[in-house]
Amino acid sequence: TFEPTNIIVTGGCGFIGSNFVHFVVREHPGVHVTVLDKLTYAGNPENIAGLPADRVELVVGDVCDEALLERLVPGHDAIVHFAAESHNDNSIADPGPFVRTNVVGTYRLLEACRRHGVRYHHVSTDEVYGDLALDDPARFTEETPYRPSSPYSSTKASSDMLVRAWHRTYGVRATISNCSNNYGPYQHVEKFIPRQVTNIICGTRPKLYGDGRNVRDWIHTEDHSSAVWEILTRGRYGETYLVGADGERDNITVLREILRAMGRPEDDFDWVRDRPGHDRRYAIDSSKLRRELGWEPRHTDFAEGLAATIEWYRDNEAWWRPAKEATEARYAAQGQ
Ligand code: NAD
Ligand code: DAU
Repeated sequence: TFEPTNIIVTGGCGFIGSNFVHFVVREHPGVHVTVLDKLTYAGNPENIAGLPADRVELVVGDVCDEALLERLVPGHDAIVHFAAESHNDNSIADPGPFVRTNVVGTYRLLEACRRHGVRYHHVSTDEVYGDLALDDPARFTEETPYRPSSPYSSTKASSDMLVRAWHRTYGVRATISNCSNNYGPYQHVEKFIPRQVTNIICGTRPKLYGDGRNVRDWIHTEDHSSAVWEILTRGRYGETYLVGADGERDNITVLREILRAMGRPEDDFDWVRDRPGHDRRYAIDSSKLRRELGWEPRHTDFAEGLAATIEWYRDNEAWWRPAKEATEARYAAQGQ
């Protein structure tokens, strides 16, 4: 086992990164976390506010900034890389920042790890594998060929390739996790579940793309955090682990669950323009992670997790309200 004491978490002010920082502070009292975050539109320091100052330090900066990494990385024993441009619709409208942050940023971090002998864990997505047909019994495994569809997923696939090469060629002690769709607190209102929940709170109708039958494999972000920790500390270097909690559901089913849970009629939503290149279905086979590292998801009741998430958005309107209007204006300009 690898026992880190002083880690850098990139993107620790975003959705999944901040949930991971909370998880580490709660579950691993001997670990100090340096959050490196550029605070883009998706990063909010409120997400980690109130955590003990002797456990968590925020450094505002860009993962592409080589000079900053040269100052920051020495003295740390691991980097857990969450920072990314993460939203497919944004990548279709403007792919440039995705190439820069996701590809160049990963390259800079790998180089810093190489120079300073630092352990590296790379947080990636199941979208690198492309999509599956609705009637295909298959799920993604670590052996599935890469076939990304969108500018976002192709930049994530590119970054995964860099990690594999830096491990094989330079011996960087690296691991990769590819996880399915996360939900939970602190998720930006541009994403499917928060968008619909906050629309309903605002008295606006939810918006469903295409025919609503696209399938996503939902996992609670807490379960993603525990998986990343297991892989960071006990994963085999050079290996990829798929993370998923057997949560396949189509979008219209999730939307109807949200409407029902919020006391709205099941058909109280709008059909809107489909996402170009929209992936049909994602599905994860996480047996390698379960078998090798004994990981198990805890949040297996989706209805319960969804209800708690809806509650979180009701209780934290001050957190999401400032981003809502601009996000909806962007969607409206795209007919979505
Ligand atoms: P997010 O968009 O909520 O957060 C991204 C964070 O990265 C923000 O805090 C942002 O300020 C920061 N950031 C962006 N560019 C930066 C840069 N150049 N330098 C430093 N910081 C920068 O994203 P998320 O949904 O929390 O996703 C986190 C990671 O998990 C990403 O790598 C994503 O590909 C991966 N992932 C996400 C999901 C999901 O369902 N959301 C699933 C699997 C994998
Ligand atoms: O699979 C993991 C990926 O999950 C991550 O790598 C990405 O960072 C993350 O954003 C997410 O990608 P998706 O494209 O699956 O998530 P999104 O929340 O954008 O959309 C989920 C599904 O809902 C998708 O089929 C598109 C649809 N959708 C989305 C929005 C925002 C709608 O029908 N209406 C909407 O308003």
